Amino acid sequence: MGSFRLQVEDNHKAIGVIDSGVGGLTVVHEISRRLPHESIVYFGDTARMPYGPRSYAEVRGFVFQMLEFLKHQEIKMVVVACNSATAAGLSYYQDAYDLPVLGVIEPGVRAALARSHNRRIGVIGTVGTISSGEYEKALRKKNGSLHIVSKACPLFVLLVENNLVETPEAGKVAHEYLDQLVAERIDALILGCTHYPLMSHLIQRVVGPHIQLIDSAKETAAEVEEILGCNDIVNPLSCNEPRYRFFVSGNPKPFEEVGSKLLQQEVKAYQVQL
Ligand code: DGL
Repeated sequence: MGSFRLQVEDNHKAIGVIDSGVGGLTVVHEISRRLPHESIVYFGDTARMPYGPRSYAEVRGFVFQMLEFLKHQEIKMVVVACNSATAAGLSYYQDAYDLPVLGVIEPGVRAALARSHNRRIGVIGTVGTISSGEYEKALRKKNGSLHIVSKACPLFVLLVENNLVETPEAGKVAHEYLDQLVAERIDALILGCTHYPLMSHLIQRVVGPHIQLIDSAKETAAEVEEILGCNDIVNPLSCNEPRYRFFVSGNPKPFEEVGSKLLQQEVKAYQVQL
């Protein structure tokens, strides 16, 4: 570990993105819109997803395996595009490598603080993310007087994974999770899970138009741009076409199907045993 190091000539290298599965593609989508000249190498640990119910130590172990794989893929920074993996120990990953390693919690927190007017902020995520308290800690560090309401919504990942978001049952589940947050008069709601942007229509319908949804994927892409700029490792416009490479630990087929839809381009994924 710790043996990849950033150099000025690294600007042509790819951005590494990791997630427990397909959800991190919401982050890839936003990076590709914002930074169309950047190459991306993605690893989705589909064989071991979901991370949400697992212990932090186990998740960290999985993340390190993915990072070790990425180490050999010519990358210049890493985005841990999974809230549960970020919550399980972003600082461990940052300490282990000499590259910028960005998680998804800090960007979402910054955006929520910028957009909330009444200082009452909701956070939803997996059981792992919510019980880690990492969102709350990050919010409080920036503003000690916030009213924060957090709620684990474990069934949301299943709704997205099984294409059930448009069903009446999904509406009921969403009300069950979210009505309490609305009653607490939050005005910003952090979507603290990679899958939630894929059901933001339903979430917005249930919470009403006066609550702003904070999509960590969009905010993370903005921060990636900032980090590349600060480190002087932006890929110059004159460079070759960007390359996207996708690796998964499980069956590539379902990943390719969802990925092609989400990114609106053909996605070819390769299975790798970690
Ligand atoms: N990627 C995970 C997250 O953002 C959601 C899916 C899982 O539990 O692995 O928390």
